[in-house]
Amino acid sequence: MTVEIQKPPKKKIQFILNKQPVETEVSTTMTLLSFLRDQMGLTGTKEGCGRGDCGACTVLIDGRNVNSCLMLAAEIDGCEVTTIEGLGTPEKLHPLQQSFIEEGAVQCGYCIPGMLMSAAALLRENRRPTREEIQVGISGNLCRCTGYIKIIDAIEKAAKQIS
Ligand code: FES
Ligand code: FES
Repeated sequence: MTVEIQKPPKKKIQFILNKQPVETEVSTTMTLLSFLRDQMGLTGTKEGCGRGDCGACTVLIDGRNVNSCLMLAAEIDGCEVTTIEGLGTPEKLHPLQQSFIEEGAVQCGYCIPGMLMSAAALLRENRRPTREEIQVGISGNLCRCTGYIKIIDAIEKAAKQIS
């Protein structure tokens, strides 16, 4: 007896990715994280836990930080998506990226793309957050290396530069 495995249906989606319009087809069971990394080749967004606990996969959807491992790619139809590749460029770093370097806030770096996206979402809502508000803003992003103090220093420094 042969068992036929049916592929999940596909859905056409249109959205903005890092300021560029995209029109494509996605499997209706594919996560946004897999779509970004495997279909769009944007490997700056990292996979840690794969279940919403670590924040390594954080991207912005319409300016708000979300865990891309918990979303389906099909859900971004009509949305604006920003990944770490769209935050700054090697020639013109985002102030957050610059201050993370200056403050020594990066060690292994695995958490940093997600950390930066959560920080960007925070500064979009609150241009001069207190240290406590920064702690809350990055509370969904785990870092095994830094102890967080330099990350908070860096976000505070970037906020001063932006505002
Ligand atoms: Fe998405 Fe950990 S990989 S929250
Ligand atoms: Fe290594 Fe954050 S710098 S996990």
